Formats: sequence, structure tokens, C-alpha cells
Amino acid sequence: MEIGIDKIGFYAPHLFLDMNKLAVERNVEPAKFTIGIGQEKMAVPPITQDSVTLAANAALNILDEEDQEKIDVVLFGTETGIDHSKSGAVYVHRLLGINPNARAVEVKQACYGATAAIQMAKGHIALNPESRVLVLGSDIARYGLNTGGEATQGAGAVAMIISAEPRVMAFEGPSAYLTDDIMDFWRPVYSDKAMVDGKFSNEQYISFFSKVWEQYKKKTDLTLADFEAICFHLPYTKMGKKALRAVIDETSEAVQERLMENYQVSTQYNRNVGNIYTGSLYLSLLSLLEEKAELAEGSLVGLFSYGSGAVGEFFAGRLQPNYRKHLFTEQHQELFVSRKEISVEEYEEIFEETLPSDGRSIELDIHEDPAAICLSGIKEHSRQYINKQRDVSTWKGEESR
Ligand code: HMG
Repeated sequence: MEIGIDKIGFYAPHLFLDMNKLAVERNVEPAKFTIGIGQEKMAVPPITQDSVTLAANAALNILDEEDQEKIDVVLFGTETGIDHSKSGAVYVHRLLGINPNARAVEVKQACYGATAAIQMAKGHIALNPESRVLVLGSDIARYGLNTGGEATQGAGAVAMIISAEPRVMAFEGPSAYLTDDIMDFWRPVYSDKAMVDGKFSNEQYISFFSKVWEQYKKKTDLTLADFEAICFHLPYTKMGKKALRAVIDETSEAVQERLMENYQVSTQYNRNVGNIYTGSLYLSLLSLLEEKAELAEGSLVGLFSYGSGAVGEFFAGRLQPNYRKHLFTEQHQELFVSRKEISVEEYEEIFEETLPSDGRSIELDIHEDPAAICLSGIKEHSRQYINKQRDVSTWKGEESR
């Protein structure tokens, strides 16, 4: 039985910041951000979007009624969880109207969470071939204004339906994985911004990639030449290139050229969104599939997942016959063109506007946010969410206020 990605969707908030303008404001050469780091635009989440709404918006447009009925597990990978106890998956489950006879759980290990969720989904489907599992990777990357990590912020979510007989990509062969307790990037529970040892995190990323790649070759006897493309977790788009360069000499010039060319394509969406942590690798896969029209069916694509702290994994998937027909390319391109640019001043204001942390209730204005699913406030310590497409009466009530 083949198991893999049957559908894959993406959502980013409607606001973005031009990295050239951020560079000027920070007295940095724009080329450092756009070439040295490799980021063009950074998605900026309004206060009415959190990891739950981003995930729900990413899934909303790819689910049909049959999915709502057949999904029996919701796995929510995030490191921007909204509650120490209750999982984001339970909120998303309700917002999307998924069958009540489902499991719903949050999975955490920095950017690796969605990959862990995929591996769990594979096990569940192997035992329950009729099942569909909704895997979400949703995050808001925050380092702080004027920090070294600022240029690598972002926000967004990827939603995938994992099933048997998948129509987009079937996972193939074993994985190679590695865990080591290191402090390259982390976020203590009292902080809404990440702590990071930037240089060390870059070194560890490359070292983890090299190690799992070595292990993968031993397990599978495959070489770089077997892959049409390799997609990477992309904290910024230069990062995967550095890792790929560390091993690229193992192969012929023609294969090097192919892998580098496809790498560039796989960074296109990420370059315009920024780091979305758990969803980042899958956004890169989406970029490759939707931006490269001539990518052949049957191609093998390598996937490198890295979550600081740290866990790394290399695995692979094969593109299915007619996979292109099952993508939501137009919807995603529409999302990119409909975004609105904001100034550095507006970005800083939005960045500083945070939800109360002292238990106060708050009502938020959701009219400016075009997303279907929004956070409308906090009442008695409970986040209030609205699905504008479904909760019509509540939404109209909002409008008449
Ligand atoms: P920095 O110190 O400001 O940048 O921080 P730099 O001085 O290292 O420069 C960056 C690159 O720009 C260099 O290229 C420069 O040469 C180049 P490189 O040597 O790296 O190839 N450069 C220029 N290029 C063209 N024209 C110019 C110019 N000037 C300089 N004029 C850093 C960069 C990434 C460290 C920082 O942004 C940071 O700390 N970011 C956050 C941490 C991070 O993203 N780490 C990545 C690996 S860890 C990971 O992926 C996990 C993570 O996603 C979290 C999770 O798992 O949950 C972060």
C-alpha cells in the first residue's frame, strides 16, 4: 500500500513587508537580505491571525465534504501553540467541521513537528487504510525588531491530507533521522520571541543534513543522482543551498546543475513568505510542484526536515501520475497577488500589538482581515474564533456592531 500526500494547501497572512525597505531602515545593504539571506518579502500576521487561524485557513480550501467525513486524525505541528494544555488541533477540528469521531493532537519539536506528524500519520494509515489524516504545520516566526534574526521572520501554514493511494506524492523507502540535545534556537515559555545562536544554528543545520544524508545513503543505496530535486526546511532560502553545497561534489556536473536549478524553484514561495517553521519544508515542496511545470511524474524528491534543539530527518517521496491536476496552484497564486504591502512603520506597529497576557478579555476588529477564519477576541480566557463562511449569523452580528 502506498501512503503519502493526497492534497496540499497553504495560507499566509494578507500583509507583507518588502525586505529591501526593511534593509534601508536598518542601515543594511539590501543585497544582504535579498541575496546574502535570500528573502524578498516577509509575511506579517495581523493580530487577528494566530497559529490556529493560519492552519485552519490553509486547510479550509482544500477540504471537501468527503474529507470532512473521512478525516479521523488531526495532527497539528506547531511551535507557536496558543495554550500549554489544549491542542490547536481541537480548535481547527471544530472550525473545519471535521467528523467528531477523530483524534486531535498537537505535536512539538521546533520546525520538525509537521514531519513527526507525517510519520505518525503513516503508521495510523498502515493500520487503517481507509483513514485520511489532516497534518498541519502552522507558525509565526518572531525574533524581535532590530535583532539578527529579524530578516528571517515570517508567518504561514501548510495543510496536507495524508492517505493511502495518494494523488500527489507517495512516500518511498526508509527515513534517516538524528536527535541531539543542543541549544541553537529555542523559546522559553515566558517569551513570545525566539532565542537563537545564529551562527551555531547554521552550522548544526548543515551538520545534521550531512549526517542524515550519509545514514540515508547507507540505508537505501541511493545517491544524489536518483533525485530529481531535494527540498529543504528553509529558515531563509540561502540555508538549504549551503547544506546542498556541502554534499554536491559527490555527483556529476549535470546532476549538480539539475539539483541546484530545482533548488532555486523550490525556494520561490519561501522567498516571498519567510520562515514559517513547521510548514517551511512543505511550502518549499509546494513551490517546486507548483512553479516547475515540467517536473516529471514519477520523479523522486528528497525532503530534509530540521527542527532546532535538534532533530533532523531525510526521507523521500515519488510524484504520482497526474499529480499536477490535484494541486491548488491557482488558489495559491491568487493568494500571493492579493497580498497588501505595508511600510516598515506599519510592520513595527503590528509587531508590537500583542494580545493581553494578564487574562484580560479583548475584542478584535476582524473587518480589515480578509481571511475566512479569524481570531475575533479573547473572552474569559478563551480565544474566540470565527469562520466567516460558516458562522454567518455571528459574523453578521459582528458587522452590525
Ligand atoms: P547575520 O549575522 O546578520 O548575517 O545573520 P551574516 O553576517 O552571516 O550574513 C548573512 C549572509 O549575507 C552571509 O552569506 C554574508 O556574506 C551575506 P554566507 O556567508 O552565509 O553565505 N552578505 C551579503 N551578500 C550580498 N550582499 C551584501 C551582503 N552582506 C552580507 N551586501 C542569521 C544571519 C541567519 C544567522 C540570522 O538571521 C539569524 O540568526 N536567523 C535566525 C536563525 C536561523 O534562521 N538559523 C538557521 C538554521 S536553524 C533552523 O533552520 C531552525 C529554525 O527554523 C527554528 C526551528 O527549528 O524551529 C530557525
